[in-house]
Amino acid sequence: MRNQTATQLLFQMSSPGRGTIVFPPSDVPAVSGVPELPAQCLGSAQLPLPEIAEPDVVRHFVNLSTLNMSVDSHFYPLGSCTMKYNPKRHERLARLPQAATSHPYQPESQLQGLLSVLYEMQHMLAEISGLPGVSLHPAAGAQGEFTALLTAAAYFRDRGENRTRVLFPASAHGTNPASAALAGFECVQLSGGKNGFVDLDELKAQLDDRTAVFMVTNPNTLGLFERDIAKVAQLLHDVGGLVYIDGANMNAILGKTRPGDFGGDMMHYNVHKTFTGPHGAGGPGAGPIAVRDFLAPFLPAPIVTYDAAKNWYSLSKPAKSIGQVRTFFGNVGILLRGYFYIRTLGGKGLREASELAVLNANYLLSQVKDFLEVPHGDRCMHEFVASGRKLKEETGVTTMDVAKRLLDYGFHAPTVYFPLVVEEALMMEPTETESQQTLDAFAATLRTICSEPAELVKGAPHSTAVCRPDEVNAARKPILCWSAPNC
Ligand SMILES: Cc1ncc(COP(=O)(O)O)c(C=O)c1O
Repeated sequence: MRNQTATQLLFQMSSPGRGTIVFPPSDVPAVSGVPELPAQCLGSAQLPLPEIAEPDVVRHFVNLSTLNMSVDSHFYPLGSCTMKYNPKRHERLARLPQAATSHPYQPESQLQGLLSVLYEMQHMLAEISGLPGVSLHPAAGAQGEFTALLTAAAYFRDRGENRTRVLFPASAHGTNPASAALAGFECVQLSGGKNGFVDLDELKAQLDDRTAVFMVTNPNTLGLFERDIAKVAQLLHDVGGLVYIDGANMNAILGKTRPGDFGGDMMHYNVHKTFTGPHGAGGPGAGPIAVRDFLAPFLPAPIVTYDAAKNWYSLSKPAKSIGQVRTFFGNVGILLRGYFYIRTLGGKGLREASELAVLNANYLLSQVKDFLEVPHGDRCMHEFVASGRKLKEETGVTTMDVAKRLLDYGFHAPTVYFPLVVEEALMMEPTETESQQTLDAFAATLRTICSEPAELVKGAPHSTAVCRPDEVNAARKPILCWSAPNC
């Protein structure tokens, strides 16, 4: 049973005279007043600080820390987000003082160890993607998209080509068009395509010498591998355009196939997803990009280079670099966690992780498809998108209601209402470390919810400290400060 009082403020829990700390007598002379401060800066009343005993303070913060859901506490099938278990060993390694206490303003001579790790990370990401030029700079997938598009724009400028359009399918993540618009391109959205795949004829009809880039997620956001991706790439290359692979779904294909091998010219990784950087609620990320050799001279600076003759790692600027997109050399704390994950699993382990992720998603799909529609096939990659359309029609219970009710049963909700091409979408991504028991329990809970009385589900959640906040206002006008009355 969750402690509902955990949302009381310390000020509300305060009781006059109750306290925690007994200060020792001061061993310096008391000062009366602070003469240097102007009078209007001095408070006239005693500050109404909360008076609370230590156990209550401890309980307050411990209870607050359990109100949220996390990968460490709950099954978290948030599709497209790859909420993987974050190995604790890698957390410890990333906090080693050699890394955690380094400062980017230290001279290269003091950073050789860290730079060698980042250099190796560049190489591993090149190897996994099949694309040789890597920048570790971007701090998230979205910034990776933006950076790669700036890189492409610089490449076209360098060739004297005026290519203005970026294309993407309707199932694209919202960051794709947003990145394209920010990078100064005109956005062209294609339809959903047949059976969720890119429609080659529709794509062909849009291609001309204005085409700069086609952005496509593969496997796509419906959890399907774009079977015609090599043909898509050929069409783009025939008109002089580039193919951008949104690598948010790399967890499905590690060691199986590579964007560089199926025609991609650029891609981003979401290190915080595929390689276990803890994330969520806008937490830290890393979105390195990998590009073909002819795009590498335009990558952001710095990149890490190695002089074998001198056995020396340096920070270098590629010949025609677009400059810096982030401070220093990227979000090193997350890159290190990714590095340790890749090194721990090795090539074979990464491939097995993808195989298990795909197996788990297909198992879960098989457990839910008799009571939830799955409009795009009965096989998937590492995730799939179910639809609550029928449930809504028959009972009035929406996908959002189901998502809220799952909280009562101790499950984080799947991603809802994305991708937009599926009505009442529930996008489920179980990840490779989940057991069959967890997947069975989750599927059984979904089944139960779908047959519960509509009023019960529509009123959910019933067990959380806050029921249904106004989500727009909660995001746009968060109340983050407490003000003492009359202070
Ligand atoms: C398919 C896809 N592309 C891009 C992104 C953006 O990545 P980030 O959240 O790291 O900016 C996401 C994030 O959910 C995604 O799912």
